[in-house]
Amino acid sequence: MAQVETELPFVIGHRGAAGLAPENTLTSIIRAKKEGATWVEFDVMLARYGEAILFHNETIDRTTNGSGAVADLSLSELRKFDAGLWFDPAFLGERIPTFVEAMVTLAQQGLGANVEIKPTKGAERETATAVARLIKSDWPSNTAAPVISSFSEDAIAVVHQEIPEVPRAMLFWKLPTDWREIVSRYECDAIHMSDRHLTLSLLADAAAMGLPVRVYTVNDPERARALRDMGVQSIFTDRPDLIKD
Ligand code: G3P
Ligand code: MG
Repeated sequence: MAQVETELPFVIGHRGAAGLAPENTLTSIIRAKKEGATWVEFDVMLARYGEAILFHNETIDRTTNGSGAVADLSLSELRKFDAGLWFDPAFLGERIPTFVEAMVTLAQQGLGANVEIKPTKGAERETATAVARLIKSDWPSNTAAPVISSFSEDAIAVVHQEIPEVPRAMLFWKLPTDWREIVSRYECDAIHMSDRHLTLSLLADAAAMGLPVRVYTVNDPERARALRDMGVQSIFTDRPDLIKD
């Protein structure tokens, strides 16, 4: 596990640099670094036999030249598909990376990361258990401890239990009325939420609880500046070339 203290910057590359390279690929992570980001976010899902990969959707149709459910395909089957061509022919040959490959890339690039657990339906605890084990065994020691997040309460419950020392954030689209209870139950260090539903009163409530708020997905530099002025700690952006720390 990491020796380096976790300190988050304002700019976090979303799915690497999803506006500039095919999301959740090693090239996207490296591109975020090239554009000046010091942290990236990516999504981790399990393939058929429990292999942890970087992937967002439950099916591969949108971001590869294949089709089918991630949960029905093994890693070696998934690797046969191109994960770059859909974005731009310049990225032909890009493959779906494993979580372990992403960790190696983080260490090589000197990047920190927010690991979003993105389970397929029904695999919440299994996905979180796999992520926790891999972080324990493979997280590079020269890299800041990750921040783990998930929309799934079950996933956050597992990492709370398995790796309590690793910072956690509860991820919300819109905050439910019982968000304080949820965040307290799993001793989360921060709230990650959609820019669409952010309000000043919510920021004040979070600040009163000592919880930093990080907001997705922000691609407009003006909006980013306004959010920083409002006290938002970090933003997730597809365009780290447009928004700088
Ligand atoms: O982790 C922030 C953000 O990535 C959550 O939404 O759908 O882009 O994974 P999504
Ligand atoms: Mg995500």
